[in-house]
Amino acid sequence: MFDLCIDGATVVDGSGAPAYVADVGVCGGTIAAIGQLSQSPAQQRIDANGQVLSPGFIDVHTHDDRALLIAGMMEAKLSQGVTTVVTGNCGLSLAPGRLRGAIPPPLDLIATPEWLRFARFGDYLQALEESAIAVNAMCLVGHLTLRANVMDSLDRAATDAECAAMRELLAEALAAGAWGMSTGTFYAPARHASADEIVAVGEPLRGAGGLFTTHMRNEGELVAQSLEETFSIGRRLGVRVLISHHKLAGIANHGRSRETLDLIAAAMQRQPVSLDAYPYNASSTVLRPEFIARASAVRVSWSEKHPDQAGRLLAEIAADWQCDQESAANRLMPAGAIYFMMDEEDVRRILAFPKTMIGSDGMPHDDYPHPRLWGTFPRVLGHYCREQQLFDLTTAIHKMSGLPASELGLSRRGTIAENHAADLLLFDPQTVADTASYDEPRSAATGISHVWVNGRLAYTPGVLHDHGAGRVLRRTARTSE
Ligand code: CU
Ligand code: ZN
Repeated sequence: MFDLCIDGATVVDGSGAPAYVADVGVCGGTIAAIGQLSQSPAQQRIDANGQVLSPGFIDVHTHDDRALLIAGMMEAKLSQGVTTVVTGNCGLSLAPGRLRGAIPPPLDLIATPEWLRFARFGDYLQALEESAIAVNAMCLVGHLTLRANVMDSLDRAATDAECAAMRELLAEALAAGAWGMSTGTFYAPARHASADEIVAVGEPLRGAGGLFTTHMRNEGELVAQSLEETFSIGRRLGVRVLISHHKLAGIANHGRSRETLDLIAAAMQRQPVSLDAYPYNASSTVLRPEFIARASAVRVSWSEKHPDQAGRLLAEIAADWQCDQESAANRLMPAGAIYFMMDEEDVRRILAFPKTMIGSDGMPHDDYPHPRLWGTFPRVLGHYCREQQLFDLTTAIHKMSGLPASELGLSRRGTIAENHAADLLLFDPQTVADTASYDEPRSAATGISHVWVNGRLAYTPGVLHDHGAGRVLRRTARTSE
């Protein structure tokens, strides 16, 4: 007797294999059977009517550390078919949360003083478990957060003693089930960390088989050097490296994805390397005067001092205030922004690269977020797959499910197979589309009819059903590759 049977689905199983038609029976949160199940009794039956049944998507790059703990906030992800998120990216995590000083930007994208309430990483994971999260979570420890825990000032390299203290915090987090460590050496408060510092701090990743993800030091002129630094950190630690939101920033670097993807493909022959990207040609992070010059336009996503300006173009604000954009930025800060600074051809080339996974990099706490927060996964399916035919549907789904599961070392998820967790979604491949835009960023996908997390119905259009179906996926000792 199944809890649920989904009848007559076009199964795209996430492995990249061709679609097939079958019934899928779910029992106790697990996919119990796949085949002709019309004679098998089930508590509930759903007629898929030819819609596509795919594994729930894995959002490999998120800043949902705090959003997971707030009821309703994961609708942004569930409505896209996302059933697992990787938190703690770009060097930023909510835990451990004993900062020595004020919250350094960009940690303020996710942290406020009252949310830095988890002394140890294990306390944070426990809080996720106790608060009944809506999707599954794999949690990384942020290197900038570690720095802010042990250093009194961040505009310098860490001392040996500080590296040892960070190493201890990381080891404790990994023992509690953290999935790895992220860095964001692109940002001022982590920029002074050399590769040696990162290797010294990251040492516990080696034995744990932890993942190293990075918002690289440079995604512009020095991108090739940054890639080399990333690969070398991975080799020195003996762990997989994941290049976050791979992109080429600034007009001078447009077109260079040919070169960077060649470098990445070559490195993949020597060591475990992964990469993710989001399907947009604008980025989003904190607003900083020094980030403005390389963007053709900048849109403000939030401002602490002038919240009423969120959603407006910086150039318009500067015109109103009769100043230049840099001065306007200074008056708006602390603030966030969307930067139009990538070349669409690079975006397409990177998305189409066979090993590229999809990560939204959505900013859940922005007043006027980048549309990637609500639109990433349906945009890959609708815009890039169906309309632009950048890849076929089985490839699109593989990039968002089976590929990340295997690269991140997630067993029993990411593909539709017997005994795998029943993280599933049902959608119409002819109509699935993103509707979130720069003007209307909080807008749910169309064409997705059901999303299940661990066998429990979590989302139907416009309705959150089960707020607590997700699990904390704690990394258990894995063999390092
Ligand atoms: Cu990020
Ligand atoms: Zn980043």
